[in-house]
Amino acid sequence: MRSPEGTSWHSASWQTRPAQQQPVYADPQALEKVVAQIARLPPIVVSWEIEALRGRLAAAQRGEAFVLQGGDCAETFEDCESDIITRRLKILLQMSLVLLHGLKKPVIRIGRMAGQYAKPRSTDTETRDGVTLPSYRGDLVNRPEFTAAARAADPQQLLRGYERAALTLNFARALVEGGFADLHHPEYWDLGFVHQAPLKDAYQRIVDAIADSLDFFEGMSGRQVHEATLVDFYASHEGLHLHYEQAQTRFIPRQNRWYNLSTHMPWIGMRTAALDGAHVEYFRGIANPIAVKVGSAMDAAWLQGLVTTLNPQNQPGRLTFIHRFGARDVAEHLPRAIEAVRQTGQSVLWVCDPMHGNTETTSGGLKTRRFENILTELDLAFRIHAEHGSHLGGVHIELTGDDVTECTGGARGLTDRDLQRAYRSSVDPRLNHEQALELAMLVAQRSQERRGARRAAPGRG
Ligand code: PEP
Ligand code: CO
Repeated sequence: MRSPEGTSWHSASWQTRPAQQQPVYADPQALEKVVAQIARLPPIVVSWEIEALRGRLAAAQRGEAFVLQGGDCAETFEDCESDIITRRLKILLQMSLVLLHGLKKPVIRIGRMAGQYAKPRSTDTETRDGVTLPSYRGDLVNRPEFTAAARAADPQQLLRGYERAALTLNFARALVEGGFADLHHPEYWDLGFVHQAPLKDAYQRIVDAIADSLDFFEGMSGRQVHEATLVDFYASHEGLHLHYEQAQTRFIPRQNRWYNLSTHMPWIGMRTAALDGAHVEYFRGIANPIAVKVGSAMDAAWLQGLVTTLNPQNQPGRLTFIHRFGARDVAEHLPRAIEAVRQTGQSVLWVCDPMHGNTETTSGGLKTRRFENILTELDLAFRIHAEHGSHLGGVHIELTGDDVTECTGGARGLTDRDLQRAYRSSVDPRLNHEQALELAMLVAQRSQERRGARRAAPGRG
């Protein structure tokens, strides 16, 4: 069996390293039993899909495609319903259409879904009125109600989560493959829920322009642009709970490598990216394309260690760095991160998460993010990459297809006071469907402006 870089790696070798953010189970044998049960169940994804995604990410790394990764901060078991999944998929498809039109390159759609059930927490416990209980770590671990029973880590939640991940991806795939995502029929992803007139009109113009282009191409070539070549959909989640990730990690003899078959693209969160930690140990051994969240605390040696440990062969599409510095700090930290990676002589795919560095708390105590900060960070990221001979290959955002009021700003000008109206997230504030679509439009528009400027001044960056 081929183990990466030395022969000591196997799917449980992470257990010899310090593992951050893992729940404590009262009955370790019950946990082992559930892990064995999940290991016997059929996988959620298969290795050739994972390989296909890696190939597409390699294209994004070369600047020939763009990644749109998005979804909930945390999926919940309760929200595993057809309407919620459909709406989330619709907004991702709409955004991708807008990006495809504006960026003039294929968009790789990756949901933060079908397994995004475990959350890192800043403290292990929570105290209310003198009572201290374990923190809520996501539905994969425990439940949010503040009772001892709900907050106890329950291994059965892993099994429930695995099943719901499978249900979610099964439905998303059926929608995507059944024609819901066919570019010839964007009316299927109708915009009944967008009330903001200018946004709706702008979106309609893009849809019409794409329909015209398809008609033109198909008329000229006498061939249908096959939908499968235009629209596909992949799943990703934070690979936080290592017993869960280990359970579906299998050696695939045909590929001669180990794969995590619970998702296409797991990522390492910022809080669990220690070089000598269990997460890096686990991730280095799987063949999936993987990502790491990159924040201000990571210095050059740390970033370089991640690059050489996680992608020693410098395989294109293997490693994505998702930077999340915040609008205020991106200009200081992104150039040095780009330089640190350059010094390794290797490359990564750069994606910007403009959400997690821009979280703030209102005077009323609600967590929120300002649309203008999200947009500013994204704008700066495009510019800084270009100025440093690099390029931004994608965005990573937290969104919902529902009409929530969790982030302020955007075309409807939501204020701190509006947040009360429909604040539903139990974790991070998400862009609602209008804000998400507007973000895609602004990214597309800026890209068109940059292309226009380059045409007007040939020879200049
Ligand atoms: C997240 O993506 O929800 C998250 C916790 O991000 P980060 O690891 O970047 O803080
Ligand atoms: Co989040």
